[in-house]
Amino acid sequence: MNVFRLRLMAHFLGFGGYVPEQIMTNADWAQLVDTSDEWITQRTGIKQRRFAAPDESTLTLAANASRVTLSDAGLDARDIDEIIVATDTPELYTPDTSALLQEELGCRNIPTYDLGGSGCAGFVQALDVARARIAFEPRKILIVGVELISRMMDWKDRATAVLFGDGAGAVVLGPEGSRARLLDVVSGTEGRYADILTLASGGTRNPFNELTLASGDYNRIVMDGRRVFIEAVRRMSEASAQVLDKIGKKVADVAMVIPHQANLRIIEAVGKKLGLSDDQMYVNVHEYGNTGSATVPFALHEAVQKGLIAKGDLVLLTAFGAGFHWSAAAVQF
Ligand code: COA
Repeated sequence: MNVFRLRLMAHFLGFGGYVPEQIMTNADWAQLVDTSDEWITQRTGIKQRRFAAPDESTLTLAANASRVTLSDAGLDARDIDEIIVATDTPELYTPDTSALLQEELGCRNIPTYDLGGSGCAGFVQALDVARARIAFEPRKILIVGVELISRMMDWKDRATAVLFGDGAGAVVLGPEGSRARLLDVVSGTEGRYADILTLASGGTRNPFNELTLASGDYNRIVMDGRRVFIEAVRRMSEASAQVLDKIGKKVADVAMVIPHQANLRIIEAVGKKLGLSDDQMYVNVHEYGNTGSATVPFALHEAVQKGLIAKGDLVLLTAFGAGFHWSAAAVQF
């Protein structure tokens, strides 16, 4: 029997990101809801986040991050063969943000699609999809993680609103390159926890209408914070260990982990479970809060830009989000 083995590996050709200018501090939140800098800092490590200006949208955030990424890759929009946008806060329900981004960037009539609804895990899941696409047929794929959560959340709900921020990050993956190689990805989903972290309005189960809008619940993010915390630590550390196992490496080989930036305590707990020191866990949650599927690509872009990753470094990316979905990727620089 002929066994067909896929040989093409995905390489990172460019990194980029964008965050809006407007800063919202914990003190600003304390003016609006019953909270304090002390509570938010102690529980989450977040000090401030960025919020989009009225003339910005999911599309403009995604386009800004994409342009930085294309420039970093030395590519023109017309060089891109496919686009994946990971977002839970799309520009429109239909068509998806990726189609609008294709037009905005001036790409050819290439296929594009959104990976929506997987919460903060969307970008790393998208890497998993993209590497399989590249393995079958060489192509350059622009992958964007973007959220404009500030326009979709309930500003009166202190338990969720203070956690989030707006932003976008992106990469280009292609079949050949010399900067970093995507060695492997592990992904998983446990759908029985769908109700523990959800924005349940607006779909066919609970469509927007006069009643749902009048209830005031239409933008309520439902979250059991403690369960999310426990599962996030467990799944990100397990997936990281699994992807290392798959590539035959040990924790001692890892230079840095770029985890989903939801909460400093979650990041520290993942590091501890893996046996890594705090300074091996990349952290920027204090500056940007939780930007959903944008956290990992934006942090990756920042770490590269700051020169924190050296040639030869093995870097893990890991994320966890609503679903629950989780993923971990191993990247060889
Ligand atoms: N300011 C002040 N008090 C707040 C508050 C805020 N912003 N938000 C909640 N509280 C209150 C609660 O009402 C509760 O009060 P009570 O004891 O009188 O009922 C108290 O603080 C403790 O709430 P609790 O939810 O038990 O706190 P916690 O230690 O679990 O921390 C989270 C809450 C949300 C910070 C924490 O659970 C967490 O980070 N979970 C993960 C969330 C996450 O990452 N989500 C995105 C996943 S991708």
